[in-house]
Amino acid sequence: METRVIVLFIVAVMAASCSAQPKKSFQDNFSIMWSEDHFKTSEDGQIWYLNLDKDTGCGFQTKQMYRFGWFSMKLKLVGGDSAGVVTAYYMCTENGAGPTRDELDFEFLGNRTGEPYLIQTNVYKNGTGNREMRHMLWFDPTEDFHTYSILWNSHQIVFFVDKVPIRVYKNANYDNNFFPNEKPMYLFSSIWNADEWATRGGLEKTDWKKAPFVSSYKEFSVEGCQWEDPYPACVSTTTKNWWDQYESWHLTKDQKNDFAWVERNLVIYDYCKDTERFPTLPEECSLSPWD
Ligand SMILES: *[C@@H]1O[C@H](CO)[C@@H](O)[C@H](O)[C@H]1NC(C)=O
Ligand SMILES: *[C@@H]1O[C@H](CO)[C@@H](O)[C@H](O)[C@H]1NC(C)=O
Ligand SMILES: *[C@@H]1O[C@H](CO)[C@@H](O)[C@H](O)[C@H]1NC(C)=O
Repeated sequence: METRVIVLFIVAVMAASCSAQPKKSFQDNFSIMWSEDHFKTSEDGQIWYLNLDKDTGCGFQTKQMYRFGWFSMKLKLVGGDSAGVVTAYYMCTENGAGPTRDELDFEFLGNRTGEPYLIQTNVYKNGTGNREMRHMLWFDPTEDFHTYSILWNSHQIVFFVDKVPIRVYKNANYDNNFFPNEKPMYLFSSIWNADEWATRGGLEKTDWKKAPFVSSYKEFSVEGCQWEDPYPACVSTTTKNWWDQYESWHLTKDQKNDFAWVERNLVIYDYCKDTERFPTLPEECSLSPWD
């Protein structure tokens, strides 16, 4: 055989043996929180579907907890008429709405066919939230999978859509008392009916004739400090990891450009500008995302 042919042959054998490796399965990293019968996977197990119908929605959570890192998943949202339907993708210190939980939320607010989805983000500390922002997206999130990520370290929490930072929540000089940084969090996702508030402030109701509503997930990835009781080593050596090094304490130059574009074009609501709701703005509103 010619050398070239031999090389090709070896490459082909290597490719075949790679693809023969067992794929990661949903059960490795997640468990279903409720309504197992509203959860499905694709035949190869790599895409996960959450269903909402008139009876119930569905949710899943990671088996592990993490403190700080980069958390990422691809989501494709309910298409067509999804008014009233909320798909939540979030991190939380506990499985439930306990009175002392910390939480970082992405919520996707459905809409009538052809009307834009909104993405709402929120931060909770010790059971209190009220830190909502709402953004438009620059694509139709129901057509394709897009990547939604959270960067979390002791200096900032950044919400990303396809690597574009849409929201920066700061802990500048560690003086933000409303910054969740002590407790490890699970990652969750769920779909539920929220037609009392979600779409046009609750005016648009869920059309159950269009059920089931399905949101799809794939490619979960974490580069972070996985929690082990009582205290994992990576918590004290956290600055050895890229997600908690100097470069990750601030937006990069490119990220600042993207973020400026988002701020100019896509922000629908920012609690830090809502002086009617907060005659005295929460303390952290004075922290600059550009620092
Ligand atoms: C997913 O589960 C596998 C097998 O238990 C584990 O080795 C891996 O660390 C988990 N991944 C994450 C991101 O937690
Ligand atoms: C957290 O909230 C609970 C009540 O909801 C309160 O008793 C407790 O003092 C708070 N903890 C901190 C650290 O603020
Ligand atoms: C739904 O569409 C209406 C009309 O375009 C828009 O005002 C609203 O912001 C959209 N999203 C939500 C979640 O209400």
